[in-house]
Amino acid sequence: REEEAQQRIDAARARLGKKAVLLVHHYQRADIFRHADLTGDSLRLSRLASQSEADFIVFCGVHFMAEVADILSRPEQVSILPDLAAGCSMADMATLAKVERCWRELAEVLGEAPDSRFTPVTYINSAADLKAFCGEHGGIVCTSSNARTILDWSFAQRPGVLFFPDQHLGRWTAHQMGVSLDEMAVWDPDQRYGGLTPEKIRSAKMLLWKGHCAVHQMFQPAHIQRWREKHPEGFVISHPESPFEVCRQSDHVGSTELIIKTVKDAPAGSRWLVGTELNLVSRLAEEVRAEGKIVEFMSPTVCMCSTMQRIDPQHLAWTLENLADGNVVNRITVPEHEAALARLSLERMLSVS
Ligand code: 13P
Ligand code: SF4
Repeated sequence: REEEAQQRIDAARARLGKKAVLLVHHYQRADIFRHADLTGDSLRLSRLASQSEADFIVFCGVHFMAEVADILSRPEQVSILPDLAAGCSMADMATLAKVERCWRELAEVLGEAPDSRFTPVTYINSAADLKAFCGEHGGIVCTSSNARTILDWSFAQRPGVLFFPDQHLGRWTAHQMGVSLDEMAVWDPDQRYGGLTPEKIRSAKMLLWKGHCAVHQMFQPAHIQRWREKHPEGFVISHPESPFEVCRQSDHVGSTELIIKTVKDAPAGSRWLVGTELNLVSRLAEEVRAEGKIVEFMSPTVCMCSTMQRIDPQHLAWTLENLADGNVVNRITVPEHEAALARLSLERMLSVS
């Protein structure tokens, strides 16, 4: 069945020719990755989507990525997600209703609209309506590879930042900029005033939404310490969605693209412990093995992004065959009123970074 699905993908692609482009995120499984036209982290894939000439942008990634492709592409281009159930559990942790309630509660505490006090910054791992919220309130989108630049821009606009949905990326990036942990506070959306006192809210420089990635949350400082005892000469590299202590104990912290580049550019024979999703780490280990580099996965338990994994050869084959037959399936469309505001915050990001 597996081999048959691969053949069906190849045949449908041959029928589609240049009409379809396959954008593939680094976390995709090997049996999908091999079909990629273009690969990248979220920032690179956003840029590629905005530059594509293809009629169909087939996104092998998760829902928010296909939404970004729809927002940044031309109206006649079509963005497709081969399995509509491929979401991002972190993105789901910040809904528009909860963020709007937070904004109202901030207004109550501050006695004025929060727009003069906090720049709303959403990680690209969020729904289009939150990107639109940021567009409407003078805010911006960031990714794991440009978070520092985007926070610099955001603090130049207003004294504070409301950052969602990933507290770990927000905390690590602000810490790198010299914001102390005392100047940060975690906003719990399930509690009134985020569970914070009015004094804490008024003095906070960085309000961090209480969201996280279940995959990166699994990495622990103890994993690094045990590995370093065995391999003191080795290097540790982690994705900034990992907990703060993991980032602090790593030699390098960065996006999926930066992780791949750093390990590929490293001296032959070096040894690496990598804290990010397993599909990426296994592929990287394979690619650098010939140079004598050893790449190991940070957690003793398997941490895969189960939603990225949903894009499988059967779904991809079915999607491409339908497109080749003239049936558009699994189209991701962001309503234009929302897309216009979301585009504002995404374009701010693309021009700042
Ligand atoms: P990157 O932008 O680093 O590829 O990260 C996307 C993501 O979802 C990581 O969990
Ligand atoms: Fe979302 Fe985490 Fe999967 Fe990335 S790895 S898509 S943040 S659930």
